[in-house]
Amino acid sequence: MYCFLLRYFVCFFASRKIVYNLHLRTLIIPNTLILNFPVYKMLFLSLQQPAQSHESFIVSVHLLSIHFNGGIHMKYTVITGASSGIGYEAAVAFATRGKNLILVARREAELNNLKENIQSMNSDLDVVIKPTDLSDSGQVHALYESLKEYDIETFVNNAGFGNSATVAEQDVTKTEKMLRVNVEALTTLSTLYARDYADREGAQLINVSSDLGYRIVPNAVTYAATKFYVSAFTEGLAQELQDNGARLKVKILAPSMTETEFVKTAREIDDFSYSDNVQKFHTAKEMAQFMLELHDSEQIVGKVNSETYEFELMDPVFQYTSRK
Ligand SMILES: NC(=O)c1ccc[n+]([C@@H]2O[C@H](COP(=O)([O-])OP(=O)(O)OC[C@H]3O[C@@H](n4cnc5c(N)ncnc54)[C@H](OP(=O)(O)O)[C@@H]3O)[C@@H](O)[C@H]2O)c1
Repeated sequence: MYCFLLRYFVCFFASRKIVYNLHLRTLIIPNTLILNFPVYKMLFLSLQQPAQSHESFIVSVHLLSIHFNGGIHMKYTVITGASSGIGYEAAVAFATRGKNLILVARREAELNNLKENIQSMNSDLDVVIKPTDLSDSGQVHALYESLKEYDIETFVNNAGFGNSATVAEQDVTKTEKMLRVNVEALTTLSTLYARDYADREGAQLINVSSDLGYRIVPNAVTYAATKFYVSAFTEGLAQELQDNGARLKVKILAPSMTETEFVKTAREIDDFSYSDNVQKFHTAKEMAQFMLELHDSEQIVGKVNSETYEFELMDPVFQYTSRK
């Protein structure tokens, strides 16, 4: 009798504690609620029938250990600008590592094609598409709000575009849009992600800059300035978080010429052959592999050397004066 009562109380309080923990977790990640249902049910039964509950309670605890080890619990990689080029190939590369994805860009049809492509490679992956115009600050905030139901392991701010023109001749409307996408949206999303994930072990933010985020060339002065901003902001954020003992890692990928839709958008032309017009360039697939290399390294900057075209992992380039 005493043994029975003791087991009842141990089961009861342990289960209450686990349900409470699970509930907290589920509040943060509501999309795992359905997955958690069998675990809830088993815990509930073990509470209702203490005499027969021993086995079901053990099974519940086992399921919970899978849940907390990431077996049931879903983590996601967010990639902006995933409808083409580097973002598209980065999505494929993260999917090859078994990562669930949240894909952002304006062109919904391209995002859907990518989703089908990835799910034909691995049907177990969850691929969520979020058609968003990142030049619209209302849509940027709505996007982040909609991401709160997911546990985001890696956030890649890749969306961006250039403009080929001298400053005096550049289209002001296109330039303003470029500032909103390359600078404003990236800053807003980085800020909100850093706020929510600063203390999360394993979380990582990768912002895509350019080798033109470290040198200036004619006919791309404003674009280069947006990328100087991305490099300086991201290097600074990485070091500020390190100074404050945060767990979130922040990194910069700085590609050089890469075969994507970039030149077509920058020059507003229908077609562009990299092999006919450019001496050295990387493919978007190669750049996605460099992104994974940067992701796995302890370095903050991953930059293509514009002379050798070697990919180099390095310390931050800009001077950062710590207050500590
Ligand atoms: N290719 C290069 O030589 C090179 C070199 C250095 C750095 N980069 C950087 O690499 C990143 C990726 O560019 P890429 O070369 O892969 O060019 P890309 O093929 O033109 O891809 C650009 C991506 O950004 C998205 N995007 C553009 N404007 C957007 C907006 N208003 N809202 C949401 N998404 C938007 C595009 O999607 P939608 O059009 O569907 O919206 C597309 O998915 C950019 O940040 C670029 O500056 C490229």
